[in-house]
Amino acid sequence: MSQPLRLGIAGLGTVGVGVVRIIRQHSALLAARTGREISISAVSARDPDKDRGVSLKDYAWEQDAAALAVRDDIDVFVELIGGHEGKAKEAVEAALDAGKDVVTANKALLAIHGQALAERAEAAGRALRYEAAVAGGIPVIKSLTEGLAGNDVTRVMGVMNGSCNYILTRMESAGLSYEEVFAEADGLGYLEADPQLDVGGIDAAHKLAILASLAFGTQVNFDGIALEGIERVSIDDIHAAADMGYKIKLLGVAQKTGRGLEQRMQPCLVPDTSPLGQLDGGTNMVVLEGDAVGQIVLRGPGAGEGPTASAVMADVCDVARGLTGPVFGIPAKRLAQAVPASSELPAPYYLRMSLQDKPGALARVAAVLGEAGVSIDRMRQYGHEDASAPVLIVTHKTSADALRQALEAMSGTGVVASAPVALRIEAV
Ligand code: HSE
Repeated sequence: MSQPLRLGIAGLGTVGVGVVRIIRQHSALLAARTGREISISAVSARDPDKDRGVSLKDYAWEQDAAALAVRDDIDVFVELIGGHEGKAKEAVEAALDAGKDVVTANKALLAIHGQALAERAEAAGRALRYEAAVAGGIPVIKSLTEGLAGNDVTRVMGVMNGSCNYILTRMESAGLSYEEVFAEADGLGYLEADPQLDVGGIDAAHKLAILASLAFGTQVNFDGIALEGIERVSIDDIHAAADMGYKIKLLGVAQKTGRGLEQRMQPCLVPDTSPLGQLDGGTNMVVLEGDAVGQIVLRGPGAGEGPTASAVMADVCDVARGLTGPVFGIPAKRLAQAVPASSELPAPYYLRMSLQDKPGALARVAAVLGEAGVSIDRMRQYGHEDASAPVLIVTHKTSADALRQALEAMSGTGVVASAPVALRIEAV
């Protein structure tokens, strides 16, 4: 058997403890699978005295992650600190410069600094692996780089933030407002320390940026993502969408358009019978489409000790086996710059408006849509509650520009009570 692979683990939160547990519980299995013993030499975290439920007495303790990263007795630096600046970044850079391989779960770091870090790792001839950064326990990085290596990938999409999916499904099942469920989720500890990372769509967008790079051979481009969180999703829209046969999901989509790379993270409608439509609670789902394979759907836990540690260990095992290919599937120097699409591909839209109860009101709305070139597919008007009536419209495929034009013109008709809600419907 080859020399042991010696790890230094920085960050002993939920995931770090999970990694320690797997290494202890499965040492024989891991050695059999990789041909090497996988051991831990040293660890680091903020508080050395905290009871984490696992014994750390066999491992050297470093207070400073960057000092851990360059220790002579480690081969792989496992970064589980998080955050795209400060300690995590410094320690990863120090590890690569010291000739260590790096395994991380840090989506923000990869999404913001992925290109520079990939160039640094490849120049040093070291691995930088991050299976745990996207969709927790779902092996989506491997699926793209290995399983779909023979495909021209055409679209990647998914629900990649469990907290948002929990909030949206809980709103629907309990009939509660966004604000009520947000408070509930926060109280249960389901949200990040900065909840905006979840509900603002930022955490999910970090993941999408990484997947887009792998799928399309482009430099990771977080700033190129059209980003909207779930804060404006109302219970009225959840109910109305359900009535029309849809669910509202915080959906990430990346696809080539012929006019550049389209990357969106925004609330979208998906058919309620589709796999994405049926995804409830905190589970994640990633849908990958390739010219040869067609569509594959990966579903699983996107967070938590076991699932995330499982993904970290997949990378550790690859490093142990000597599988250390380019960071983003293609050598970093050869990744093309991501040119953001000049406009989104046309799609059907869901519109909800409150229409004044007077003759010709509906005709005015239909005329405005028609003048902008937006064709109505389905429409439903409900009984009048007061002086206005809720109206739902599903359009045929239309460009975002035509829809914007129609919405602007609608506000000038004097028959629409307040600004209509417009949400994209994604074909899944
Ligand atoms: N807050 C994240 C989620 C954790 O809910 O999916 C994993 O990034």
